Amino acid sequence: MSSPYDAIAELYDPWSISVVEDVGFYLEEARRSGGPVVELGVGTGRIAVPIAADGIRVIGVDSSRGMLDVCARRAALAGAEVDLRLGDLREPPVRERVPLVICPFRSLLHMHTDEDRGAVLAAARRLLRPGGRFVFDVFTPGADDIAQTHDRWLEREPGIFELARWDETARTLTLTVRGPDGETTMALAWLSVDEWRALLEAGGFEVEACYGWFDRTPFKGQDDSVWIARRA
Ligand SMILES: C[S@@+](CC[C@H](N)C(=O)[O-])C[C@H]1O[C@@H](n2cnc3c(N)ncnc32)[C@H](O)[C@@H]1O
Repeated sequence: MSSPYDAIAELYDPWSISVVEDVGFYLEEARRSGGPVVELGVGTGRIAVPIAADGIRVIGVDSSRGMLDVCARRAALAGAEVDLRLGDLREPPVRERVPLVICPFRSLLHMHTDEDRGAVLAAARRLLRPGGRFVFDVFTPGADDIAQTHDRWLEREPGIFELARWDETARTLTLTVRGPDGETTMALAWLSVDEWRALLEAGGFEVEACYGWFDRTPFKGQDDSVWIARRA
C-alpha cells in the first residue's frame, strides 16, 4: 500500500502545527461517547493522541505506513497508546463495534466518487453500535479562497510551501506540499453541503448537527462544515 502521505510523514506535524481548532471538539465528542473511538485516516495522531492520553481507547486506521510510524512515536512521547492499523478508509480492518467513528481534517476529501464516499459511510455505519455517531469535517471552498490561492506558492509555515490548483468544474484540488526534506502532491475532491447531507441520509445516518466551525456555531455557508451523524 503506497500513499502520497509517506513522502511527507515527517513534514506533516510541522506543516499542520497551527491547526489546533478541532482538537478540543473531537476530544469532547470522544468523552461524550465514552469510547472506544475509531479514527479513519488517523495520520500522525494529531487528534487520536490527545483522546488516548485522556484515557479513551482509540483504534486508528490509515493507508500511510509513514504516518502511522510518526503516530506511534507521538503516542509513546505522550505516554499514550493508540491501536494503529494499516488499511483503507473504505475497508477498515476493524472488527470491534464502537459508539464513535471520527474522520477529522477533511480526510473524506480523499474520496473522489460517490461510490467511494458511500463505501466509507457504509464502513463507518458498520463499525458503529446502534445509535452511535459518525463525526467528521469537510470543506467546500469559497470563490475568495480559490481566487487568493490558485496556482501560487504560499509559505504555510516557515520553510514549508503549498501550491493549490483548483478545478472548479471537476471540483478537485491538486495540492503540492514542499518542505526541506520532502514533497508530495495529492488530489482532493469536494462536494456541497447538500450533497454531503444527501449521502449521509442515503447511507443510513440521521444528521444531528451540521456546524460551520468547531465552536459549534451553526452552518451558514462557511467553507468548513462539521458533521455529527447518528446511525439511524
Ligand atoms: C489530512 S490527513 C488527516 C490526518 C489526521 N486525521 C489529522 O486530523 O491530522 C488525511 C489522512 O488520511 C489518510 N488517508 C488518505 N486516503 C486514505 C485511504 N484511502 N485510506 C486510509 N487512509 C487514507 C492519509 O494517509 C492521511 O494520514
